[in-house]
Amino acid sequence: MTEKKRALITGITGQDGSYLSEFLLDKDYEVHGIIRRSSSFNTSRIDHIYQDPHNPHVSLFLHYGDLTDGTTIRRILEEVRPVEIYNLGAQSHVRVSFDSPEYTVDTVAMGALRLLEAIRDYQYRTGIEVRFYQAGSSEMFGKVQEVPQKETTPFYPRSPYSCAKVYAHWQTLNYRESYNLFACNGILFNHESPRRGETFVTRKITRAVARIVAGKQKKLYLGNLDSKRDWGYAKDYVRAMWMMLQQEQPDDYVIATNETHSIKEFLEIAFTHVNLNWQDYVEFDPRYLRPAEVDLLIGDCTKAKEKLGWQPSVTFTELVHLMVDSDIKALEQSSMVGSGFD
Ligand code: NAP
Ligand code: GDD
Repeated sequence: MTEKKRALITGITGQDGSYLSEFLLDKDYEVHGIIRRSSSFNTSRIDHIYQDPHNPHVSLFLHYGDLTDGTTIRRILEEVRPVEIYNLGAQSHVRVSFDSPEYTVDTVAMGALRLLEAIRDYQYRTGIEVRFYQAGSSEMFGKVQEVPQKETTPFYPRSPYSCAKVYAHWQTLNYRESYNLFACNGILFNHESPRRGETFVTRKITRAVARIVAGKQKKLYLGNLDSKRDWGYAKDYVRAMWMMLQQEQPDDYVIATNETHSIKEFLEIAFTHVNLNWQDYVEFDPRYLRPAEVDLLIGDCTKAKEKLGWQPSVTFTELVHLMVDSDIKALEQSSMVGSGFD
């Protein structure tokens, strides 16, 4: 019997980590994920694929660790001996990164460096190739220098989070060129799903729509409604991550839908879907404004289409509808505690 391919995922408990785990398990990988110790359960997005470690045929393994803890990362790498590593772990909330810049940079920028250093030493010592995926972000384009944004568009980050992602991007490229690592940067535009964290604007809206319909909420407080984002479906985007690591040569790719929509458009589609008018419910709260805003993101994913054969499968309207429907269903079934639906 041939050995299964082993993948290691940081951020396995997050939106993307959960979808990527499902995707890799379907491809018959042995999947290892790093989880943070928490005083309450933080595995709701992966509970449905959790396997009892006593089962001899288990193919999903969880390891305690943290991107701020380089020693543990090295130990896990030695134990797991993965052939692919997906670095999805991050303090990923842009607004929060202004409140906690040092922690965000430690996790996002230094976390990537810790992994790259561990891989470099492991590969040098064992001669085994480890393919590395770095979760880069369209936030790196920030105050955009070109419309639409592609792989060659200069970065202009506008938050501690995106400055840290730019650092991780260049280190990934630097390790590829300096040490011949198979290291890829995915420059992913916003991607959403029913598993999206509840404090990101899309999920905040769809969850509020469900609660308003159920009579559990009267108002929805938001910040800037004029910014525009290129929103895709998270399941499509994790497929692109894997595709990058299957190529003959490592490279960097923009993953996007080539469409942009404002928060107001998102509100319009979400509320109209349940026959409500968003203007009757949405109130402005300045606490959700950012010290510096990213006004417009729209990606050009031509390179990914041509070289990876990747393209998005869910339209903007379908995405909004599927998120609203899922939140309504989740509320009906479980009073909104960790949806887990898709
Ligand atoms: P997410 O839902 O916020 O998940 C982040 C994951 O990182 C969680 O598993 C979290 O663990 C973990 N994490 C946080 N701090 C950590 C630390 N210090 N050490 C180890 N793990 C840590 O994010 P996502 O939406 O899945 O995004 C995945 C990655 O893609 C992130 O790097 C994000 O910055 C990047 N990205 C996302 C988008 C997007 O639109 N979703 C676009 C571009 C790039 P807990 O569950 O314990 O909190
Ligand atoms: N979160 C949030 N909450 N955003 C709001 C709100 C609110 O109440 N009101 C308005 N917004 C606006 C923000 O100012 C921003 O312009 C836009 O909605 C989107 O905000 P988020 O959903 O928080 O996402 P983001 O675009 O800042 O960041 C996400 O996408 C990046 C990729 O471009 C995150 O997933 C990042 O981790 C990711 O890198």
